[in-house]
Amino acid sequence: MTGADRRRMQEPADAAAAATRAAQPAVLITGAGGEVGHGLMDALKDDAATALVGLDIRELPEEYAAMCAETLRGDICDATLLQPLHERYRITHIYHLAALLSSRAERDPEQAHRINVDGSMTLFRFAVEQARRYGEPVTFVYPSSIAVYGLPDLATKERAGAVGEPQFLDPVTMYGCNKLYVEHLGRYFSRHYRQIEMPPPPPPVDFRCVRYPGLISAHTVPSGGTSDYAPEMLHAAAQGEPYACFVREDARIPFMTMPDAIEATLTLAHAPRESLRHCVYNLGAFAPRAEGFAELVREFFPQARITFEPHPKRQAMVDSWPADVDTTAARTEWGFAPKHDLHTAFAEYLVPAVKRRYGVA
Ligand code: SER
Repeated sequence: MTGADRRRMQEPADAAAAATRAAQPAVLITGAGGEVGHGLMDALKDDAATALVGLDIRELPEEYAAMCAETLRGDICDATLLQPLHERYRITHIYHLAALLSSRAERDPEQAHRINVDGSMTLFRFAVEQARRYGEPVTFVYPSSIAVYGLPDLATKERAGAVGEPQFLDPVTMYGCNKLYVEHLGRYFSRHYRQIEMPPPPPPVDFRCVRYPGLISAHTVPSGGTSDYAPEMLHAAAQGEPYACFVREDARIPFMTMPDAIEATLTLAHAPRESLRHCVYNLGAFAPRAEGFAELVREFFPQARITFEPHPKRQAMVDSWPADVDTTAARTEWGFAPKHDLHTAFAEYLVPAVKRRYGVA
């Protein structure tokens, strides 16, 4: 190798090192105004070494905006919104939460595809540019969902039990299709990007994906999802309101509490790269029937008025999702260990916190 060759190789590395010195390390959270976004910001706000950049279609509530070095308000597909960040920040982690959830997506599938898929491509492109400038892959944390599964009928669902990551990937919802495709894109960007080049460039993205089950929070109620019946039932009871559950008594899918979901997401984000053999991990902590939720809600709120009035289409979506998920890969590779089972979720987290929230004795 000549001296000139050596200098040519050295230049991009020098440029990346200079850019790295000038830019502040930061974490970018899209969909920062949603319930997972709030949970992540609460957990990350005290890390003084890393700035938070929050993006959402709506203005962030003041309390959350105050946690951020910078907030961006706008459409996730608008690349010009992200462009100015390149100069200012070296984004070490992206938590890409912005999405339309499953029930909402069925009302406007084209729009769901735009936000859920095109929006994700905008973020992958952004990560590629970050990696080029700063010479490091961006850790891209992506919440996928049990909606990627599509079990053909209830008998199969019953037989299948706890489903593993590669099984039954025939989603029936636009949201599920979008999530599954973005899982594939993440794997592509982290393992096969521009594979035809010789030598191939280093991967721009370190893609880490969790498939969330239904999430249940004491502080927020989701909007537009199909697993929403569980949190809705609880929050209605705490407020003394009647609740008509939109799935049958025997409907069954996995769930976990929001604090466990946040903890797991951050644990995966910071797990040593060499311990991870997969791109995508199932998460879940308990999997009661809807009737099981109702019984617990009644145990803690004896006045609760819960009826079951299944919506046939939302029921069909839940029927296509697994009764439970196999979380062995997450447990063995990066130590996933949810704190709450169904009973402690209610007794130690949900009930005390919702009572405080709604001022119930
Ligand atoms: N919670 C999501 C929804 O209901 C599924 O993971 O759309």
